[in-house]
Amino acid sequence: MKTTVKTICNFILIAVISCSNSERQGGITGSSANRDNQETEITYVPGMSLCKAASYPVGVAVSAEKLGDSRYAGVVRREFNSVTAENQMKMAYISVAPGKYDWERADAIVAYAEKNNTRVHGHALLWHESLPPWVENFEGTDEEFEAEIKTYIQAVVEHFKGKVASWDVVNEAIEEDGSWRNTVFLQHMGEDYVARCFRWAREADPGVLLFYNDFNLSSNPVKAQAAADMLKGFLPVDGVGMQMHIQVETPAISKIADAVNIFTEMGLIVHFSEIDTRLNADDKLTELTYEAALAQENRLGEIVDMYNTIPESQQYGITFWGLRDNESWLLSRYGTDWPLLFTETYEYKIAHRGVIRAFE
Ligand code: G3I
Repeated sequence: MKTTVKTICNFILIAVISCSNSERQGGITGSSANRDNQETEITYVPGMSLCKAASYPVGVAVSAEKLGDSRYAGVVRREFNSVTAENQMKMAYISVAPGKYDWERADAIVAYAEKNNTRVHGHALLWHESLPPWVENFEGTDEEFEAEIKTYIQAVVEHFKGKVASWDVVNEAIEEDGSWRNTVFLQHMGEDYVARCFRWAREADPGVLLFYNDFNLSSNPVKAQAAADMLKGFLPVDGVGMQMHIQVETPAISKIADAVNIFTEMGLIVHFSEIDTRLNADDKLTELTYEAALAQENRLGEIVDMYNTIPESQQYGITFWGLRDNESWLLSRYGTDWPLLFTETYEYKIAHRGVIRAFE
């Protein structure tokens, strides 16, 4: 069937079904393969949305501008019941100067979520890669620095109290060898700065869930253990965000399971917080082949199957780090790839089917 007609059908489908609908739509995995019933297409027509099929929240990283696009928002509304600001709740976007904040874009994301019965996961209170100039070039004393960071954390958590369900309090504080990452926060505040940041956030909102978020926790057992040891040092912490920027072949599911077990065994909630699957790490592909798309479908199926083994009380949900392939951060970082669930024209890649089938 011509793409145009298929796209229109997709659009009608999206407009009809949303996560707020109480009715399940069609079979869980929709039409077999695709409209032409050929197992060679990289897209398909779904019968069920991700958030209707899942027993836990399914999220996506968004921006205020993208949510202002009706087509984009239509797909997000249908497929997801959780959102994370990809960038607009980071310090570099909110903190204009000490004690001065720009809430506009973050508030727009919260407004979308409130209107659409969607959870908001806050990302991230402290991250060394998203610093306003006044932090990066701070010239005061360490005590003055710490006082400003405490003020910032408590102002942000209080501003979003009752609107944001959870926060990545600190993002990526640990190096691959398990040592402390030498960030501006470590330099000014010392090794137990992470614990103090969690305490300040908890003081600002006793009801918000507090997470530590990092990458390679699923592939690097030394880093995962270091994160667990750090968090044990200042429990109660609610959860860990395993970012899950992964490839089709690596890390092995057994490695991911071992890392997940480190955190579930200490009672933490687990959030697969930034899922994308690189298909072209060796840079051999110039277009998305069916073989690559199928490998991605199968990979996502095994990742979600693995997540489903986590005890229900410790499942915070899974979040995809973007909606459409062309929007992924990976493209500007590494080049051509197709890491997400939707094509640039909002068609459902068979990767989406891999996730849906894991919810069966
Ligand atoms: O908005 C400006 C635009 O006006 C300007 O023309 C353009 C060129 O300089 O930059 C645009 O800002 C970019 C922003 O993304 C929005 O697209 C920044 O340069 C760019 O650095 C920023 O990258 C983000 C990155 O974090 C750094 O903050 C990515 O979108 C985002 O996906 C990525 O997400 C991180 C998580 O927060 C933490 N885990 C790792 C993950 C990937 O790095």
